[in-house]
Amino acid sequence: MTTDSLDDVLNGLRAAADMTRLRLLLLCAQGEWTVTELTQILGQSQPRVSRHLKLLTDAGLLQRMPEGSWVFYRRARSGAGARMARNLCRMLPLDDPTVVLDRQRLQMVRETRRLQATRYFAERAESWDRLRSLYVDETKVEAALQSLFEGRSVSRLLDVGTGTGRVLQLLSPHIGFGLGIDQSTEMLTVARANLDKTSLRNCQVRQGDMYHLALDAGSFDAAVLHHVLHFADDPAAVLVEAARVLRPGGHLVIIDFARHDQEHLRRDHAHRRLGFDHDEMRLWFEAAGLAFNEPQSLKGDPLTVVLWTATRVVKPSLTKTSITDTPLTEPPDEDRESQVA
Ligand SMILES: C[S@@+](CC[C@H](N)C(=O)[O-])C[C@H]1O[C@@H](n2cnc3c(N)ncnc32)[C@H](O)[C@@H]1O
Repeated sequence: MTTDSLDDVLNGLRAAADMTRLRLLLLCAQGEWTVTELTQILGQSQPRVSRHLKLLTDAGLLQRMPEGSWVFYRRARSGAGARMARNLCRMLPLDDPTVVLDRQRLQMVRETRRLQATRYFAERAESWDRLRSLYVDETKVEAALQSLFEGRSVSRLLDVGTGTGRVLQLLSPHIGFGLGIDQSTEMLTVARANLDKTSLRNCQVRQGDMYHLALDAGSFDAAVLHHVLHFADDPAAVLVEAARVLRPGGHLVIIDFARHDQEHLRRDHAHRRLGFDHDEMRLWFEAAGLAFNEPQSLKGDPLTVVLWTATRVVKPSLTKTSITDTPLTEPPDEDRESQVA
């Protein structure tokens, strides 16, 4: 067990001892937010909010993540400050009127983001398959994805953010049944037409939200998110939800961009995150109860695509089965941000 020094505790308490900072702690336990978004939620000036954020970050209670011209803040994940932040959040009254109002405003910020993304996809449903191959050689990515499934017995596959259903089409020969989930009805219309055209009788698509999959826990052998996570405002929560629907020993495959600096993708293509690095992906996987496997990178210029794979942790007495046959590890004892409030 880790013990913190009295100084650690005192520093954390000093940093948190303010109404706005307590509110910020709770907000940052529910996702990753920019200063602009936090300013909208709190209804305070940006310099003021920035000052509070700096104090919390300096004390290790929050984590600051610069990414291109944006900076995200989230609750710290490790160290004395993270433990303090977690414990404080547990003590805060979620039914306090100020906290309730913050949550409502946070929901409005989420809705705004969601509307922007939905509009973007609705406008591009028809041309998506052409658009998606703009940056990397998709055939290489698709071959790498297929090879992960070759010779494996996957009876139920979930394709989260299925878009035009391309992943289902690719993997249908390797699976018993495939379900594609997407929030955009326009994308689903194209996906249905594609599945119909290719007579894929073992695949279906349905509307749904990757943060709240209306699916039973443990009901899939594998799940894929292909170029979906960089649209997520809370990637960690998406991974927790995907892990939930996997059976123990089931596999998660995330295909997305490595960290990059192509800022225009935010402006022109509604990307929220400029790719990911291995360490953050590992932390999210582990927090979701997934064992991290060695990632595979497909170098591109300027965008590199990475296949991150993970296996839902099986209790030690069960057998080891992983896409890359790496040993399974227990995830760290960390609570899930998305469940805090
Ligand atoms: C870039 S497309 C990728 C589609 C597909 N995976 C592919 O590679 O062709 C991202 C997809 O994620 C979907 N999406 C975005 N946010 C979502 C959410 N909250 N729940 C479900 N789908 C979502 C979009 O509608 C879009 O179809």
